[in-house]
Parts: sequence; C-alpha cells; structure tokens
Amino acid sequence: MPDATPRGLTRLAFGGDYNPEQWPESVWHEDVRLMREAGVSMVSVGIFSWALLEPSPGVYDFAWLDRLFDLLHENDIRVDLGTPTVVPPVWFYRAHPEALPVTADGTRYEFGSRGAICHSNTDYRAAAANIATKLAERYGDHPALAMWHVHNEYGVPVSACYCDSCAGHFRRWLLGTYGTIESLNEAWGTAFWGQRYGDFEEINPPRATPTVGNPAQVLDYRRFADATIRENFLMERDILHRLSPGVPVTTNFMTALSQCDSIDYWAWGREVDIVTNDHYLITDGRRTHVNLAMAADLTRSVAGGAPWILLEHSTSGVNWQARNPAKAPGQMARNSLAHVARGSEGAMFFQWRQSRRGAEKFHSAMVPHGGTDTRVWREVVELGATLDTLNPVRGTRTVADVAVLWDWQSWWAQALDWRPSEDHDARERADSFYEALYDRHLTVDFAHPEADLSAYPLVVVPALYLMTKAAGDNLRRYVDQGGTLVVSYFSGIVDEHDAVHEGAYPGVLRDTLGLTVEEFSPLLGGERVRLTGPDGAELDGDVWTEFVVPRGAETVWTYTDGLTAGRPAVTRHRLGEGTAWYISTRLGTDGIDAVLARAAQDARLAPRTELPRDVEVVHRTGEQGSYLFAINHTATEAKVPLDTPGTELLTGERAAGRLAVPAGAVRVVRLDG
Ligand code: GAL
Repeated sequence: MPDATPRGLTRLAFGGDYNPEQWPESVWHEDVRLMREAGVSMVSVGIFSWALLEPSPGVYDFAWLDRLFDLLHENDIRVDLGTPTVVPPVWFYRAHPEALPVTADGTRYEFGSRGAICHSNTDYRAAAANIATKLAERYGDHPALAMWHVHNEYGVPVSACYCDSCAGHFRRWLLGTYGTIESLNEAWGTAFWGQRYGDFEEINPPRATPTVGNPAQVLDYRRFADATIRENFLMERDILHRLSPGVPVTTNFMTALSQCDSIDYWAWGREVDIVTNDHYLITDGRRTHVNLAMAADLTRSVAGGAPWILLEHSTSGVNWQARNPAKAPGQMARNSLAHVARGSEGAMFFQWRQSRRGAEKFHSAMVPHGGTDTRVWREVVELGATLDTLNPVRGTRTVADVAVLWDWQSWWAQALDWRPSEDHDARERADSFYEALYDRHLTVDFAHPEADLSAYPLVVVPALYLMTKAAGDNLRRYVDQGGTLVVSYFSGIVDEHDAVHEGAYPGVLRDTLGLTVEEFSPLLGGERVRLTGPDGAELDGDVWTEFVVPRGAETVWTYTDGLTAGRPAVTRHRLGEGTAWYISTRLGTDGIDAVLARAAQDARLAPRTELPRDVEVVHRTGEQGSYLFAINHTATEAKVPLDTPGTELLTGERAAGRLAVPAGAVRVVRLDG
C-alpha cells in the first residue's frame, strides 16, 4: 500500500510544477532565491521536457537538467522528477504516426498539444521505457531526488484509443478475461440484436455505431482502456524501482473530477508508493470548498488512509473553465489547509512561475506575471510560513466518522446509454449525499463496495447501479452485524456485465433493504412529488420515483401525490443487529439530511449541531499527537468547542473551551495529552 514519504523531505511539501525550460537561465537564480523566500520545500520538474532531453532519436541533452538539479540541491529544495512520457517529441510521431490516438469515430489526433498517446502502441512503450531508463540512470541516486512523478494525469485528455492496434490488444485482453467466445457471448448478452460472435478476431472496439452499441462491450472497453494505461505506468514504475531503489514513485491522480472519471483509482492506489492528487475548484455555482473536501477525502481513501500529497492546485484562477474567477483573499490558504486537514502532507501548485507563452499563460501561479509586488505572492509567502509551523502533523492520519461507497466501474456503467431517465445523475447523488454529510460535520471515508466496512457506524450508498453479488453480500453482512446503511434509488441493479440481477429490483440489495421495487417511475422535467413522514414532516423529491413493495421494511415517508401516491418513499428495515434505510426518490440536501438525522440515531452518531455551517472541523491523529483543524469558510468569527485543551499552532496561543476562529481563517490546535 502507498505509505512511503518523499526521500529526504523533512517538511510538509510546499512548491509546485517548475518549468524553468520556459525561461532563460538567468531567471532560474531568481527563482531559487524566491523559492527560499517563500519556504518552498519541493518542486516537480521535467514533466513536459522529453523534446528537450532527447532532441533527436538517441541523442540526449541532460546538461541543463544537471545544472538545475545542482542548483536546487544547493538551495535545499527537493526534486519530484517527472518522466516526460505524456508528450513524446515530434520526431517520434513522424517516425510512428500510428502512436497518435484515434477517436471512436475514426479521427486520428495530430501532434501539437499534449497527451496524444495510443497506450497500446509498442513503439510508444519502447520509447517511454527508454527515456525513463535514461533519466533513472542519470538521476536515480542524485541527492536532491525525492520522488518520481511518472507521466502526467493519466486518463486525460485521451481516455481511450480506438485504433487497429488497440483492437488487437482488446481481443487479447478479452481472451484473457473470458477464455472462450461462448462465455464472452453470454457475458455481453449478444443474443440481443443478433450480435453473437463466432471468434475473438471478429470483435472491435466499440467504435461509432448507428444507434446504441452493446453496453457490456462499452463497459469492458473502459476496463480495458484503464488496464492498458496502467500497464504503461507499471512499466515505467518498475524501471524506476529497479534503477532508483528507495525513491518512491507516484503519478498525479485527479480523484474527484467528474470530467476525468476514466481511471479506476482503487486499482491504481495500490500500485503507487505515494498517492498524489491534483485538485482545482470547479466554479459551477456550488460551494467549492465542499467539492474540495470530497476530493481530499476520496484521495485519502484511495491511499488506504495513509498520508498523501496535494501535488497541484491553483494559487488563484485557472484558465480552462468558461469563467475563471480569482480566489478571494485568504481562500488559497484555506484551500491548502483543508487538504492538509484531510491527510495531505503539504500543498503544491500548478505552477511556480506563470508562463508568458503557450496555452496556460492565463492560469495563476505562485509567481504571477505581476511579480512579487502582488497579493498572490504575499499570500504564497505567508502560506509557506504557515505550513512550516504545521510540520508536526506529518505522518498523522485523518479520523473519519462514516463511509460513502464509491466505485469507478459503477460510474462507467451508470454513464451507459438508454437508462430510465437522463435526469438521474449518479455523480450528482454522490455530491449531494456528501454535502449533506459535510453539513452534519461528519468526516467521510470513501470505500469500495466490497471493502470491510465494520469500522463505520454509518455507510451511505448514494447511487451504485452496478453492484456485484459480493458487494451485496458485503452490505448484508455489514447490516446484519450492527451497521446502519442508507441506500439511494437505482442501486444494486446490475452485475459487472451490466446484466440485471435475477429477480425483482434491487437484486443484490432487496433482502438487506427488506423490499422490492416493482417499477421505476421517473418524473418529467420540473415535476415534483411530495412525501409525508413522521409527525407529518413533509419532504419533496424530483427526477425519480418507484413502486416500492415493503417485504419486511417499515414505511417512514410516503408519497402523497404523483403516480406512486400512497406508496412507500423512504423505508427502514431492521436486519440482524443493524438497520437499512432506502430512499426511492431524489431528495434535496435538506431531505437527505432529514433521513440522515434518523439514520444517525440508529448508528448512535452524536449530532454536532453546535458547529456553524461552513465551519469545517477535522482531526488528524497519530503517535506524534492529535490535531484539530478548524477552517472557517464564513465571513464571521466562529466558535469551535474543544473537548480537550491544547496549543494553537498558527498563533502559538493556548486554546481551551471555545476556540475563536476569525472569519475566513484556519486554526490548528495540537491537543494536550
Ligand atoms: C492539470 C495539469 C497541469 C496544468 C493544470 C492547469 O490538470 O496537470 O499540467 O495543465 O491542470 O490547471
């Protein structure tokens, strides 16, 4: 599991992507002087430098990188060295044009951007292995080297290629997965629409078809594409492990970005030595700090609870959204420290110095175009000093209260075509349930549906349409042994091949929930239904309703209008030592909260009502001590109750009783004892 730390890094990671090749060497000296001023401890270099390091085939120029390594080393700045395999040089593509990826409709991409790679291409694999080898041989034992950073954000911008060599690779992958064509036909349900195959050789990637293609084929292609990309990561990782022993290897994830959901990070998390993540605020009108907390919790969970590193975020605005607002004063530090609270061993940025040229020149950086007489630079320097006072938290682990189930393979299945309603957005359900838990001030671990859940008093399943029988059995065992489960509609419906589980819905969950669903009854756009519950409490739902038949479960909320009027809407089932709740419509966060309040009673989770909304309180603990992080996202001072007194690290003051956290500020208390 990923529990290494960057070699020789004795502070929290603070720094960013450093691309000095974009600047004359005279600027490098100013860079390191400013890095020292800001307290930078580590930088990521070389990520996009293949064309400079190998200007023509087999001809290498390491001189500039040698000088850079030495300069950083002299200044006590650790190096996270990228393998530049996300952008092969143009000469490579001239020799191997078939390494450019092809879309499902047959378009071959061109050189001139980044990430244009067919991961099945054997020439690409050989060239990537070669440059990784050369770098490992040259820098593998350089004293400044802290960590290897393989590639960049695998899975974007191209998540799958559909070319002929991928077709051959896919067929071999299918043969290895299914063994016989008969079992593939069975798994893919090819009896439907006459899609039966007589031989693996007849199978192609799911390229453009006149109407909806075979869903099991599409789902397998996503698995294949992820596995193929992972093969290339493992190839580079193994070279680095062999030639640079003792130096941890990572690749930067993007765990919670819904636009980049093509990587099964549960599988990847086991393969890296340190989990690292990139996170950018998505400014879509929602509370950005909630999505940030979710990304951090998910990243920590992918790391199995171990400390991880935020490798990229932004000092202020980005440049790739429709509108890119600047961060408010203080927001950068709040963002950084919220990641640290949730397990990050520091806060790094894209990028150190804002580019003058190229596609990302309007993206904020640690050193903005305006230089050092700027708000951003002053806040960067301040953050460096703040992080320095927080070094004692290194190695401690974030404490979670509840688990939310999460499965990338289920996301892929949920994105397939022709579902009961296009308004049902599984990811929206995950975000909304997370938000409701966040607002109850509960810290969330995410868990794979087949993971051991026994440590959690409450487990939430926002929308997991694809659920294996093993996952269903796992949840049943969890409830039976005393757990409290909350399940949202359209969960547990299909198996790993997108085949509906036998019998009534929700196949693998019906016994646990004590009910069956006779029929889905999605609502039209804008349509809402009312629900009446205990003591006449009213809720309303939209998007989805169902004809639920209780088979052991009690009805807690009932539909009062719509097609399902008079039928159960929210149910509760006692099973063994535990309880399973079911929500059959789309509730807003208030409605979710009303159900969670009751489920939390079943789970004996004490309410934290004394904490104001948007004041985040998270604990990190370990042999080194216990730390309480309080992050005030509001515009007024907040008072946070402390069960144990302690010392506030940012002000150095003693704290007891109620901790004052000024508007927009962060406080970190080292608790006594
Ligand atoms: C990341 C990427 C960086 C930079 C950044 C801009 O996804 O790894 O290279 O493009 O986005 O926000």
